[in-house]
Amino acid sequence: MTSPTPSPSSSPLADKRRLFVTTALPYANGAFHIGHMMEYIQADIWVRLQRMLGHEVHFVCADDAHGAPIMIAAEKAGQTPQQFVAGIAAGRQAYLDGFLIRFDNWHSTDGPENHRLAQDIYRALRKAGLIYARSIEQFYDPVKGMFLPDRYIKGHCPKCDAADQYGDSCEVCGAVYGPTELRQPYSVLSGATPELRSSEHYFFQLSSPRCAEFLRDWTQGNGAHGVPRLQAEMLNKVREWFAVDEHGHGGLADWDISRDAPYFGIEIPDAPGKYFYVWLDAPIGYLASLKNHFDKGQAAAHWHEASRTQQSFDEFIADPAVEQVHFIGKDIVYFHTLFWPAMLHYSGRKTPSQINVHGHVTVGGEKMSKSRGTGISPLRYLELKLDPEWLRYYLAAKLSARVDDLDFGPEDFVARVNSDLIGKYVNIASRASRFIAQHFEGRLDYVGATDPLREAAAALAHDVRAALDGREYARALREIMAHADRINAAFDSAQPWVLAKDPARRAELQDVCSRALAGFWTLSVLLAPVLPATASRVARELFGLERDFLWGDCTELPRRVAPYRHLMQRVDPAALQRLLEPEAAPAAPAAPATSAAAAPRAEAAAPQTIGIDDFARVDLRIARIHDAQAVEGSTKLLRLSLDLGEHDDAGQPRLRNVFSGIASAYDPAALVGKLTVVVANLAPRKMKFGLSEGMVLAASGDDGTPGIFLLSPDTGARPGMRVS
Ligand code: MSP
Ligand code: ZN
Repeated sequence: MTSPTPSPSSSPLADKRRLFVTTALPYANGAFHIGHMMEYIQADIWVRLQRMLGHEVHFVCADDAHGAPIMIAAEKAGQTPQQFVAGIAAGRQAYLDGFLIRFDNWHSTDGPENHRLAQDIYRALRKAGLIYARSIEQFYDPVKGMFLPDRYIKGHCPKCDAADQYGDSCEVCGAVYGPTELRQPYSVLSGATPELRSSEHYFFQLSSPRCAEFLRDWTQGNGAHGVPRLQAEMLNKVREWFAVDEHGHGGLADWDISRDAPYFGIEIPDAPGKYFYVWLDAPIGYLASLKNHFDKGQAAAHWHEASRTQQSFDEFIADPAVEQVHFIGKDIVYFHTLFWPAMLHYSGRKTPSQINVHGHVTVGGEKMSKSRGTGISPLRYLELKLDPEWLRYYLAAKLSARVDDLDFGPEDFVARVNSDLIGKYVNIASRASRFIAQHFEGRLDYVGATDPLREAAAALAHDVRAALDGREYARALREIMAHADRINAAFDSAQPWVLAKDPARRAELQDVCSRALAGFWTLSVLLAPVLPATASRVARELFGLERDFLWGDCTELPRRVAPYRHLMQRVDPAALQRLLEPEAAPAAPAAPATSAAAAPRAEAAAPQTIGIDDFARVDLRIARIHDAQAVEGSTKLLRLSLDLGEHDDAGQPRLRNVFSGIASAYDPAALVGKLTVVVANLAPRKMKFGLSEGMVLAASGDDGTPGIFLLSPDTGARPGMRVS
């Protein structure tokens, strides 16, 4: 077997880029949704391209652990914030591995590195004269004993008197105001009337003329290789933020960077009881994760070619040649284009080279809620054995360097994957390799010197590389598929099935099939950043290469091909449908749960042992069945309205809607008033019939014994009680 080496010109050492790449650090208060996966996939494709080109890449992320919402969620779960965050962190790897996302490191903003770095940066900013303290008046919840963030205060709109409006703006009349302007304010946490109290806060002086001037230049400037730091659309947005109107309003405001205890965060030096606001330490977490990665001392990763030395984090991050590239969503641009570069610059550090902003994923045209985790569950996608590379391909086929939103549509998904990936790409290999195996024992041979398709391959590789590097993934894939079309057309018009019948035309047959397979080789190299697993199998199993593809391989000619082994399945539209509408016939009698219905049933063997911490992550509660209804269009489901002793923001009792697969065993009317046990912290799931916000527990036999038996507590239990 041949092992073509990449031509040295494809990654000359002199051109070697040193890249520090990140995605936004996700809040550690929930599981990933498809929007997170899109961001990671977008960045992972870019990183894989750079690695294939031979560049040095350090690709890191971390959990964003701090802030009031996480502190409050932990308290509700009966855990310390550290335990709560650890529980979330433990779940991350399954998503990343599942979708072939290869970070070099995953850390936490609550790690010791971040505490140190955040305090160091703060001290430097203070020394630069950009920090000052000032007393502000803020609402305080006397029951909870804490100052209330704006989103935890509600009341009547000061303009139109609409009830239950948030502390910053009115959803009814659109008025914008401060929380202290609300009428009849109340704490969302305790329902208590908040009191105004004053407290000393620390501010970062973003409004100072030198800061504004620096940021104006910085945002308009270029990072590395003449590439603008910000996309044009983002630069326009930033210009609006700078703008000052004729009344002198607008412009950059100073930034309140402190919060009072109790707060889950990093202590501010020389300010007892004060913590950094989560958004101060969150981006510093990028550096902390990188430092953690370097300190782990994976020697090979930190070998610096140019200086031929081992580098420390401090040396690496100070190297002017290092490019710092952030991938983020459009909702967090202010933090990354203003606060973050200013913090870095005025603490004497290098600033980012590129802030790559993407739009949001919608599902079936609907916005996803990032806090509630609705939309499609990435884990469920994997449970249903849908191929992760389909999703990578599909998202890539819709991504550009612009900030447009991206809609996930099932028909669209099936069409792209089946017609492009399978119909155009995979088919080439399966068709051409069959002739080579049958007639030539795997040997490839090319008769003529070259052909137009081979010549086109070099230009194609050049364009695709530029498109991928510029995050124009849709364009790259269009060009790749257009080339696949040309390969298929050349193959078809040569009619190899006719050639195969004529012993005199053997050489021609071998040539035609070899060229198709050489084309397939090229396509596989170019697709490798998007389809890393398939490309790796093509390289190793099909073409006998003893490593994965490098970019420079793209114009090489393979000399042998192994007998074709199945590479990729077509999407079954029904399977995809199950992802969106989880109700389906379970394999066994009746799944005890509403939502587990279509998931492959777990192995019947005894489940693996778990620790008490794992169990503690499941929030089991007593619920009273307030109402139960048959579900039109389903023979298995009942719609339950459950009272878990919860209250909504206005203090009204809140009922949960839960679908349960118990219709075959229970008459809805007989259930009303009963107590049962509910998994209360299960991510809400959108079903065909509506949102299911939990799961009731029921017993059922594995062995085909009929019947489903709802769990109920002993007398005396009340709704909302924790089951442990
Ligand atoms: N913790 C902050 C980021 C701190 S970075 C120093 C945060 N976390 S997040 O979990 O809410 O979002 C993480 C990333 O996911 C952000 O880049 C955000 O824009 C992105 N997305 C959140 N919802 C999204 C979609 N619906 N679609 C695509 N990306 C989405 O913000
Ligand atoms: Zn109003």
